[in-house]
Amino acid sequence: MTCLRHRFLALGVLGALALTTAGGPVPAAAGSVRYLDPARPVGDRVDDLLGRMSLADKLGQMVQPERRFIGPDEITRYRIGSVLSSGGSAPRPNTPRSWADMYDRFQRAALATRLRVPMMYGVDAVHGHNNVVGATIFPHNIGLGAARDPGLVRRIGTATAEEMTGTGVDWDFAPCLCVARDDRWGRTYESFGEVPSLPSSMATVIDGLQGPGLRGPASVLATAKHFVGDGGTAGGDDQGDARMPEAELRAVHLPPFREAVRRGVGSVMVSYSSWNGVKMHRNRHLITDVLKGEMRFPGFVVSDYNGIDQIDGRPGFTRAEVVAAVNAGIDMVMVPDRWRRFIELLRDAVEDGDVRMARIDDANRRILTKKFELGLFERPLADRSYLGTVGSAAHRGLARRAAAKSQVVLRNNDEVLPLDDDDKIFVAGRAADDIGMQSGGWTVSWQGAPGATTPGTTIVQGMRRAASRPANVTYSKDGSGVDRSYDVAVAVVGEKPYAEYHGDRTDDLRLAKADLKAISRLRAAKIPVVVVLVSGRPLNVASEIAKWDGLVAAWLPGSEGSGVADVLFGDADPVGRLPVTWPRDGGQEPINRGDGKRPLFPLDFGLTYDD
Ligand code: GLC
Repeated sequence: MTCLRHRFLALGVLGALALTTAGGPVPAAAGSVRYLDPARPVGDRVDDLLGRMSLADKLGQMVQPERRFIGPDEITRYRIGSVLSSGGSAPRPNTPRSWADMYDRFQRAALATRLRVPMMYGVDAVHGHNNVVGATIFPHNIGLGAARDPGLVRRIGTATAEEMTGTGVDWDFAPCLCVARDDRWGRTYESFGEVPSLPSSMATVIDGLQGPGLRGPASVLATAKHFVGDGGTAGGDDQGDARMPEAELRAVHLPPFREAVRRGVGSVMVSYSSWNGVKMHRNRHLITDVLKGEMRFPGFVVSDYNGIDQIDGRPGFTRAEVVAAVNAGIDMVMVPDRWRRFIELLRDAVEDGDVRMARIDDANRRILTKKFELGLFERPLADRSYLGTVGSAAHRGLARRAAAKSQVVLRNNDEVLPLDDDDKIFVAGRAADDIGMQSGGWTVSWQGAPGATTPGTTIVQGMRRAASRPANVTYSKDGSGVDRSYDVAVAVVGEKPYAEYHGDRTDDLRLAKADLKAISRLRAAKIPVVVVLVSGRPLNVASEIAKWDGLVAAWLPGSEGSGVADVLFGDADPVGRLPVTWPRDGGQEPINRGDGKRPLFPLDFGLTYDD
């Protein structure tokens, strides 16, 4: 060995001694401590760090509290390795800068530990950095599936990562790669489509989020979720039971995760749902044998929010559930509030041999590898140079183009579309002038909400900008005031926002009465009527559609309603195609390509203005 190596080793040993004997913070001369030396291979750094960690250090890496239930001092005391914001859980005021301040406060607490292991901060940035007021809100996945543009989706990932980076947040619980097979499921809007090839092709969002090799200045960790079969539950029951042979699970629901692993996704989140009656959160075969073994997934597996509580079907979690989840292969457990109890139970389980130390070390190795790869040891604090990207004109322009590409024209009688710039247009409907409605769930609040929840352009505002004169466009929510003096009427209707559970429907997917009433009021004026549907899934229009002159599926277009107006006025050609089969009514569900049923519109249907 050269004398240089000797010196290095000597320094390393001295450094290590200083570390282990003093137990104090790592010496300033980080070069003398291997895991702090960025020139070393990540594997070496992980080995060195792992060798210095106590059981308490390791357990702290495997639990993820929610920000409301932990303070910086406890992050230091319990060596917590990650914190999350659940949907809508934001600092006050909810501004990009206060997010960065919050992140840095938590991070500095993590760096105050003996080994100075940085924490990761996770959020659901599922259609932009959507917890942050003022962030760009992109179309939800079902609309991006309709756009059929993997390159566009990659660019959305990049833009989202930039907006996250400015606030410090470095871990995104996205993309959802679910394959939605029953549109009654309340999370159909989070699916890129009903066949595995669609979410698989849109896994490019991972490249956008993570950048090349996670080392980019605006790289964040992506999460493929929810593993596996969440979109295949009986009746579309959210968190329900996916009943199918393994061959079908592998053919329909697994391929998008294979593609995500191939693209180097850093983490995988386990689904609340069950497969043939076994909760995914305890499914060792699928998590360890298939995902980590057969698919050779090198990243780490995170549970869903309080996901381990559901294993035994009773509220709260027990030591048995902690053991089952960790031994199934879950590396980090999302325990928002009772995280102290989790640490106690897991420590007891390790000391009693119910969870082997090898499992604890494997979990830590996986988690720490991603922290080193992300460069968190070298650049632990928010990079505020990206704050200006939050809600930037460039990102809003991208969101507008994405909204336009996601529009699917389903009916266009007598070429009522595109609208003429000089038309005298009457607009009605509760989704026409409402950012919250057009953005859907996971927008500032967890379930989303109607109203002016975040800056952006509503659909009718976009229409006024597209028209030759804004005064050409009149808006009345319920349609009152419409008369024959107008050339055309547009009803923008649809679903109120929802994120989870509340979106499940067991009815026949009909439109809301208020929407049907507004449309009939427009029809009574005996002028052409175009319906624009703002929804997270197909709805039952079979008995109504023949009375309408035009129908556009707008999905959940996000903050840039101008993208919808661009297609309505022909400033952008309609290129969108259905990512899911459109049923005649809810009774046909589940309905998917190739199942022999006769839908209203098949998968891939979409009109252009040349048709
Ligand atoms: C939620 C969702 C999951 C999300 C997680 C953290 O319950 O199921 O998609 O990433 O909790 O908010």
